[in-house]
Amino acid sequence: MSVVSVSKGPRQPNPLLAFLVSSIGKKWIVGISGGLLIFFVLAHLAGNLTIYIGPFGEGINAYAQALHANPVLLWIARGGLLLVFAVHIGTTMSLIIANRRARPQRYAVKARVQSTLAVRTMALSGLVVLSFLIFHVLQFAGGLSPHADLYDLQGRHDVAAMIILSFHNPLVSGFYLVSLVLLGMHLSHGISSVFQTFGLSGRKSFGLIKQGGLLLAWALIIGFASIPVASVTGFLKILPADRRVAPELSASSQL
Ligand code: HEM
Repeated sequence: MSVVSVSKGPRQPNPLLAFLVSSIGKKWIVGISGGLLIFFVLAHLAGNLTIYIGPFGEGINAYAQALHANPVLLWIARGGLLLVFAVHIGTTMSLIIANRRARPQRYAVKARVQSTLAVRTMALSGLVVLSFLIFHVLQFAGGLSPHADLYDLQGRHDVAAMIILSFHNPLVSGFYLVSLVLLGMHLSHGISSVFQTFGLSGRKSFGLIKQGGLLLAWALIIGFASIPVASVTGFLKILPADRRVAPELSASSQL
């Protein structure tokens, strides 16, 4: 009886996994996560602009109350958002490292590649935006703002006053404005990159998509920046102190 030995050969990698760790796959991951983040930024801006509704910015107090009405849903959304941020940053880092490894030596002659300031500063603007985000989330969502314990006429957390009073500090509003400009640069390139990654911008439409990305990014930034500007200039006003509800009588203390 002859024994036939069957060689299994090298194990075939899972095709999906192989795609995801390839450089094209990583670009897809950066594109998809970036697209989701742009949706978040759009939704967040829409929520923030409710500060212009009603007296003393109380539109945003009602919006924040609705957002916090279901804590389980809120924490699931926050977890998802954190995951998307982590995937976006982690995958971008891994692409940058792989790119640097692929060309260990600097070119002897620098090719004059046409690139805008936004493209050349993507990593730097991304890092400043990240530090802004850490500060911002601790300040407003983490309750570290010195104005986090104010309540409006209806006993709701006075988110409007927390925001407006925070921006009365020129260091805080200055830091926001600088970070927002960098976020604008990051997004203006990021939005057109998403289209390029998925092959949605042909030769003809590329210019149009680039302009569209630029317009959307700066419209977003102007929307966000209007809030510190309106706070500093006194356009946005806070509820006078004698009309406030004491913290112990607030809606949150009665839960
Ligand atoms: C003037 C500009 C902005 C204002 C007034 C503002 C306001 C706020 C407020 C009040 C919260 C707390 C929400 C809560 O209670 O859960 C918050 C959370 C947050 N903001 Fe902003 N925001 C601004 C700009 C931005 C920008 C530009 C980004 C991102 C690029 C951003 C990302 C976030 C994130 C990730 C959270 C945490 C989400 C959460 O835990 O609810 N914000 N922001």
